[in-house]
Amino acid sequence: MQRTMNLITEQEVQDRLATDRLVENIEQMSPVYLEGIQRILTVSADTELISAPAYYRAALDAPSTNAFVSAMGIIQDELGHAHIAYRLLEDLGVDKEKLIYERQPEEFKYPYAFDVPLDTWVELVVANALYDRAGFVLLGDIYQSTTFGPWKRGLVKVDREENFHLRHGETWMRKIVQDPEGKQLLQRAVDWMFPLTVEWFGLPDDLKRHTEQLDYGFKGSSNDELRQTWMGTAVPLCEELKLHVPAHFDQEQDKYVLDYPFPCTFDAEQKRWLFEEGEIGWDTVLKRWKGRGPSNVEYVGQLQRGYREWSQMLERSQ
Ligand SMILES: [Fe+2]
Ligand SMILES: [Fe+2]
Repeated sequence: MQRTMNLITEQEVQDRLATDRLVENIEQMSPVYLEGIQRILTVSADTELISAPAYYRAALDAPSTNAFVSAMGIIQDELGHAHIAYRLLEDLGVDKEKLIYERQPEEFKYPYAFDVPLDTWVELVVANALYDRAGFVLLGDIYQSTTFGPWKRGLVKVDREENFHLRHGETWMRKIVQDPEGKQLLQRAVDWMFPLTVEWFGLPDDLKRHTEQLDYGFKGSSNDELRQTWMGTAVPLCEELKLHVPAHFDQEQDKYVLDYPFPCTFDAEQKRWLFEEGEIGWDTVLKRWKGRGPSNVEYVGQLQRGYREWSQMLERSQ
């Protein structure tokens, strides 16, 4: 995946970070730092990229031309965000074209939530309010704490645009909820999308693996802390709209708690959580994530189609 580079030692990276200097290029990275930053950048790039076909599918259900254009603006932003992250990966020795166009669908590293198709305008705006909020929380944390300078600077623009996306979702939800039928549709969307976003933040802290993300300052907060930050605005939004969410703020514990077994089984075809079957192990969740969901092949296929056709045409002409 990468060229051979002259990397520095762990101690040299630590010395640099100890004096509050950012890491600016690959020559200032150790093997562990490089691997860690490549991993987190790939997840970010893939997530931004896959949101384009996912949102496009639902944008086709837009209630007006104006609404469709606003969704296309968001999709354009997401492609710009993906470009920033893939471009940085290229500087870190990764073959960008191979990464985007030659990986198998199941090799992409975005959260499972995007594999569940968004079929309607209502689902798209709830995705803006919940998924883009998750992106905003995660990227805001990276912006604050990352030690990789070029990414930190690139995230200024991304942060602002993600904020716009989640406001777009909120504005539409406030409008749709006024209609009783619209409110029902919103509730149905929140019912499956809220727990998917809770799960998005990953394994609970006591089970988490990649500790260099925190040690090296790629991230500032832990999975559980970020999940709390997200619920800190997602739950009040839903409460304001009188939409039920299976989570509430617990005064005694001074934090949000979930009112359903976590983690639990998700029926992706029916878009339904099987709360009644109780808590399951994270190994089962990881298996579902790894196996990817219903729209994975379709979305990656859409992203790679033009490149495939173009390569085949070039081959034939030789
Ligand atoms: Fe984005
Ligand atoms: Fe976004």
